[in-house]
Amino acid sequence: MLKRIGIITSGGDSPGMNPAIRAIVRTGVGLGVEVVGIQNGYQGIFDREFINLGAVEVSGRIRDAGTMLSTSRCLRFKEESAQKDAIEILKKENIQALMVLGGDGSLAGAAALSRHGYRVLGLPCSIDNDIPDTELCIGTDTCLNTVIHLIDMIKAIEVMGRNQGYLALMSAIASGSQVAVIPEFRYDMEKIVENLTRRRLRRHNNSVVVVAEGVCTGQDFMNRLLATAEDRLDQEVRLTVLGHVQRGGSPTFADRYLASRMGEFAMLALNQGEHGSMVGLIRNRMNLTDLQTLSGRRPPLPADAIRLARNLGMEIGVPSET
Ligand code: ADP
Ligand code: F6P
Repeated sequence: MLKRIGIITSGGDSPGMNPAIRAIVRTGVGLGVEVVGIQNGYQGIFDREFINLGAVEVSGRIRDAGTMLSTSRCLRFKEESAQKDAIEILKKENIQALMVLGGDGSLAGAAALSRHGYRVLGLPCSIDNDIPDTELCIGTDTCLNTVIHLIDMIKAIEVMGRNQGYLALMSAIASGSQVAVIPEFRYDMEKIVENLTRRRLRRHNNSVVVVAEGVCTGQDFMNRLLATAEDRLDQEVRLTVLGHVQRGGSPTFADRYLASRMGEFAMLALNQGEHGSMVGLIRNRMNLTDLQTLSGRRPPLPADAIRLARNLGMEIGVPSET
């Protein structure tokens, strides 16, 4: 019988972690399961930063950006001995299972706990949308909404996303940008210059180039663009680096709903004996994947988004392996 579980938010925070915590706690309350919040990611286990979470503690937080439990990058947790120490601490606290909310690193930590025989369920929380077996991660939609809002206000832009071009490609599509430079594709600077020059000739006042941080810095890209174009662009080029504002938004409807669904589903599944898996969204349904199969896999960019970008006249290059 499940009596007491813990929740951890770990790695980069993502908008929607709070609604997920809330759904886990509220569903847990209904099932008679006590929920303990562990603060500051895996580090909080060693520091014994435990707080009891009930329906009241999670109230009024659904709209808050980030995570009410705080998060951290805890390098020590990559060591097997630290993982085993953490399990001992959790057991001493009578915490029978853990919900891990985080990105690929945090879920690798969850997979390690599961390999050591501890009960754990993962929820994919990352603005990068770089986790396999879920069509969307919690936080990606809010981040994209923030990015397109900012692109609407400014012009040449560097976005986050680590080595995943998802944020750059999708935000470029939804903001009507002309160029997306993404890690998965090889760009041709000459073609980019031609695209921008063509627009200029058609009397467009401005163009937007979205550069994924996984390719190079926006500054490096701008220098290369100017060097290739020489005097052909006939317009000023300005760079904006968006940085951490991308992770800071209040969760959108889509993220609040996704996080609430995933949180509720995870709690119900854990209570029914499920563990060692990650909740995902597949064809608008909740799905469970074995945590051990995540490592080393990256979801491909959606093929229809690539086709769409091209049909909208966007310059995106060609797949790197061709
Ligand atoms: P994210 O979860 O957002 O991808 P990180 O990659 O920084 O962020 O990972 C967050 C934390 O998860 C790390 O600081 C560490 O505590 C833990 N972690 C990351 N990778 C592993 C791993 N391979 N094994 C165990 N724990 C890991
Ligand atoms: O994984 C989320 C993310 O925001 C990436 O897009 C980015 O590369 C990284 O985290 C930034 O990490 P930090 O907040 O530690 O600088």
